[in-house]
Amino acid sequence: MSPKPRPKKSAAAKPGAVPAKNASAVGFKPVIVSSVALEELQDFDSEPSRALQPVAEEVRVCGKCKLCESRTQTVFGTGDPRSPLMVIGEAPGGDEDVKGKPFVGRAGKLLTDIIEKGMKYKREHVYIANVLKCRPPGNRNPEPEEIEACRSYLERQIEIIQPKVILAVGLFPAQWMTGKKIAIGKLRGQVHEVNGRKVICTYHPAYVLRNYTVETRKKVHEDVLLAVELLGPGPLVS
Ligand code: URA
Ligand code: SF4
Repeated sequence: MSPKPRPKKSAAAKPGAVPAKNASAVGFKPVIVSSVALEELQDFDSEPSRALQPVAEEVRVCGKCKLCESRTQTVFGTGDPRSPLMVIGEAPGGDEDVKGKPFVGRAGKLLTDIIEKGMKYKREHVYIANVLKCRPPGNRNPEPEEIEACRSYLERQIEIIQPKVILAVGLFPAQWMTGKKIAIGKLRGQVHEVNGRKVICTYHPAYVLRNYTVETRKKVHEDVLLAVELLGPGPLVS
């Protein structure tokens, strides 16, 4: 049997392309360029990677909130979708908006160290995504209506990946996962059961960089070791 041809990439393939002419149903003019995540998923040959592709395609052209107008590109997620560990961050920052992948800037470097040095897993074996798939201008906090507009994408990512453990880094992902509108200091340090899934919350790497104290780093270390206890030693997938 001859291999199936790859789906065609979009014509406007350059990050930084002008907003597309086709305004969305709610009146926004989404920037539509090719999706780094979709290309990565096409290179993985697994059931969850195939199931994620139509979701990544929906995100690529999404115009459900105003962030679609100011993004360079969408940031869907990265890593192995077969992973039993999923890390959830807040939203793309400047570096992520340019590169199309989550956690590739300074905070991303610390997250990589946390995963590789702290947890002893390889970063590419972990699936990483954000609550929002588009960058809030100036890295401001996500607004409630943006979180709601974007909700179904992360819900479907979790549904398809079926991670055994979710590590929510930062206040917004921690509140998104647990549904509890309380401080991150109160959400961390324990295992939450959410729809039969185990969720651990910890501080965001960008917060750790701003508050680089032994105490903060010790707390993050304690939190990630809770995840390792549940998952066992790596590699998570081969
Ligand atoms: N911060 C996040 O929450 N997500 C990213 O992808 C990068 C920085
Ligand atoms: Fe769509 Fe989410 Fe981007 Fe808003 S943040 S445009 S809902 S993908």
